[in-house]
Amino acid sequence: MIRRAAKSPADAPAIEIRSLRKTYRMGVERVHALRGVDLTIQRNEFVAIMGPSGSGKSTLMNVLGCLDRPTAGAYRLNGRPVEKMGAGELASVRNVEIGFVFQTFELLPRASALKNVTLPLLYSRTGWLGARRAARRALERVGLGDRMHHRPNQLSGGQRQRVAVARALVTNPSILLADEPTGNLDSTTGEEIIALFNTLHEEGQTIVIVTHEEDVAGHAQRIVRLHDGRIRSDLPTPSDPIHRDWLERAAIKIKDMGAGSPSPALEAAS
Ligand SMILES: Nc1ncnc2c1ncn2[C@@H]1O[C@H](COP(=O)(O)OP(=O)(O)O)[C@@H](O)[C@H]1O
Ligand SMILES: [Mg+2]
Repeated sequence: MIRRAAKSPADAPAIEIRSLRKTYRMGVERVHALRGVDLTIQRNEFVAIMGPSGSGKSTLMNVLGCLDRPTAGAYRLNGRPVEKMGAGELASVRNVEIGFVFQTFELLPRASALKNVTLPLLYSRTGWLGARRAARRALERVGLGDRMHHRPNQLSGGQRQRVAVARALVTNPSILLADEPTGNLDSTTGEEIIALFNTLHEEGQTIVIVTHEEDVAGHAQRIVRLHDGRIRSDLPTPSDPIHRDWLERAAIKIKDMGAGSPSPALEAAS
């Protein structure tokens, strides 16, 4: 009998989930937040997850980030089955393999940017000096080399989110997860954060981002749309019909602004 070599984790997708379900119990009621989701994300991919409010985006991200356990289904992270991990291993995976960025930044208000970014390393084997050095490097990487000793309330919204990105990156995670990272930022600042994500992606970082905004999703290579706890579509960004529609409408708007008169497409439609 020929035994096939076990697939080495090095060739495994970053994320592989099958028939994933998450049901919340609210007293006697049950909320089916995820109703059977299959999703594979390769290393170095940049994926946007979209969908209406309540469609299960955050639930999915929390499961992907090992912040929450699914009710049923399989999840392999870099080829390793998450459901078989004990509490200790799970905590270490969460700390080292996953970088999480939240809409509301979630920084410690009394700690400097440097301290906030150093924290994830306090539980690792890196010594205190090494942790400081890594935190400095992460802050420089997000363009905050000159703001290390500022506390969150001494920073702008965009700078706070950069600190949060540096904190997510400081352990060199294999996956960067961001749940509506531009949701609390004005559009210009949001653009800056997305430009930063683009750079990280070019450097090889695997990124999964939840967003409501088509222009933010447009930076990703692929758009996964959730609806009522299920994947409704999963397409390369240029082939996504909703995104294409949005692009066309945006192009018309720009043309109108430039020409100062309605575009032929709009005239035809009226
Ligand atoms: N901790 C929870 N307990 C009960 N229901 C929840 C909980 N978290 C989310 N839900 C419900 O699960 C569904 C999906 O929520 P969520 O994943 O937060 O959606 P989204 O991020 O797409 O807005 C919603 O109906 C929501 O009310
Ligand atoms: Mg959400």
